[in-house]
Amino acid sequence: MSSQSQNDKQYSPLEQIPCHIAIIMDGNGRWARARGLPRLAGHRAGTENLRRVLRAAVEFDIQVLTLYAFSTENWGRPKSEVQGLLTIFEQVIDRELSELHEEGIQLRHIGRMRRLPPKFRQKVKDAIELTKNNQRLTLNVAFDYGGRAELVDAIRHIIIDGVPAEQIDESLISGYLYTAGCPDPDLIIRTSGEMRLSNFLIWQSAYTEIYTTPALWPDFDKEELYKALKVYNERERRFGLTPG
Ligand code: FPP
Repeated sequence: MSSQSQNDKQYSPLEQIPCHIAIIMDGNGRWARARGLPRLAGHRAGTENLRRVLRAAVEFDIQVLTLYAFSTENWGRPKSEVQGLLTIFEQVIDRELSELHEEGIQLRHIGRMRRLPPKFRQKVKDAIELTKNNQRLTLNVAFDYGGRAELVDAIRHIIIDGVPAEQIDESLISGYLYTAGCPDPDLIIRTSGEMRLSNFLIWQSAYTEIYTTPALWPDFDKEELYKALKVYNERERRFGLTPG
């Protein structure tokens, strides 16, 4: 279905809309290979797809969207792919920032900053500063992100701050994560059929519902998002308690 007809389509209202959705955007490489294209063409198609997923997320009234863009392990990919991805991300900021700002999107970064090239790092910081008061949707971009690295960084900061052992509890640790102040994800979506968390939000996902779809990320559209929301509505979230 074309995006235009998807926009016109009426989706039946759902009882529960997750406040926070996190997405593992997987399958760009396979999307490109299936078309005989280089991997970077898949990443570009995946980037183009962000617009329609963001628009759909706003239309479905999602409050927080977290996207796994680049993991701490992704630096190990071939140099040309890493460089290509960095260029794509920088171009996205240059091209899309003013529109994102006008649409009321608040941009946040989760992950480490220090390995980002200085010019790119500055653009990310400027984008965060520009959009910090926007309220329509918070977009967390996980870049140089790893759940284990996040815990390591949190523990280091707790020690540096001299927090006494008896004051360390779950809420204190949450407050030291990159996602401090953000609700835990209600739903994690992984595209391309893989069944792994791949070091994504490992602390925050303790009670998150997980949904996977065979759709490759560049093909994941509003219809696919609606399917994920419908499945989420059929789940009974018990948070370790008995059925209610
Ligand atoms: C996985 O596909 C995807 C990534 C490594 C992330 C790249 C994501 C984008 C380019 C989307 C744009 C995002 C932002 C925030 C600008 P893969 O290479 O692992 O695919 P494969 O498993 O099929 O090889």
